[in-house]
Amino acid sequence: MAVQIALENVSLRFAAKPQPFTVLEEISLSLQKGEFVVLLGPSGCGKSTILNLVAGFNQPDSGRVLCGGEPVQKPGPSRGMIFQQPNLFPWLSVLENVTFGPRLGKYRKEHVNAEALDWLARVGLKGFEHHAPWQLSGGMKQRVALARAWLPGPEVLLLDEPFGALDAQTRMMMQELLRTAWLETRTTLLFVTHDVDEALFLADRILVMSAKPGKIVDEITLPFGRERDIETLAAHPRYSEIKHHVLHRVRQEAKRHLR
Ligand SMILES: Nc1ncnc2c1ncn2[C@@H]1O[C@H](COP(=O)(O)OP(=O)(O)OP(=O)(O)O)[C@@H](O)[C@H]1O
Ligand SMILES: [Mg+2]
Repeated sequence: MAVQIALENVSLRFAAKPQPFTVLEEISLSLQKGEFVVLLGPSGCGKSTILNLVAGFNQPDSGRVLCGGEPVQKPGPSRGMIFQQPNLFPWLSVLENVTFGPRLGKYRKEHVNAEALDWLARVGLKGFEHHAPWQLSGGMKQRVALARAWLPGPEVLLLDEPFGALDAQTRMMMQELLRTAWLETRTTLLFVTHDVDEALFLADRILVMSAKPGKIVDEITLPFGRERDIETLAAHPRYSEIKHHVLHRVRQEAKRHLR
């Protein structure tokens, strides 16, 4: 399988006060094309910083960040990003929000609109294309953000706690929706969360980080298969053991960070 994203010995310092500090130290990781990887780790360990490097919003001080074998130098349409807040333009309709990116470049309106409507249907928003963002619930807004990110056909999607602000039921629906869209498109996903259950349901592989400086300290490949059901996953013979291990590692790192 081809490597889609690679960080090779990446280090980064921030010029913070009272003194500069190393946020990421010698981080190496790679994602195979089509893989779903979840990053877990204590607050402030550098998870968003890693996503920002892959997105091209920032550059490492040393080491390399590669996407499809090419060095990442700036943001580009091959890498989409989804944040905790949907960040929709309040004065644009749902359809206009979803097609905003393509409309900045050369595009065929009918084609882009048809694809946008298709994505809106896939995320369960058929019939809402002419609504304004303020007429939607939080989960619906985040579904618009998903459609918007997927419309340009990115190779990679970077998701920074995208369901963190949603209630438990909506969150579960969004997780299922995300997995379905991922299975259909085979986009490579790098997903940040604090929620161990979410990580266990979504990921092919979980990476656990430590803080100050940020490093990858554990890697767990999940044996649950790609076709998962949120209701029956917990009955998998290895679910409890793996959940315990991941919880333990995450808590260990969080406690170490607090000390
Ligand atoms: N532009 C910046 N300049 C200086 N320091 C920064 C900058 N961005 C982030 N930091 C610091 O780098 C560290 C890592 O930040 P980052 O946002 O990557 O953490 P995180 O793991 O995503 O945390 P959380 O789980 O709370 O979102 C934090 O200590 C943060 O204060
Ligand atoms: Mg963050």
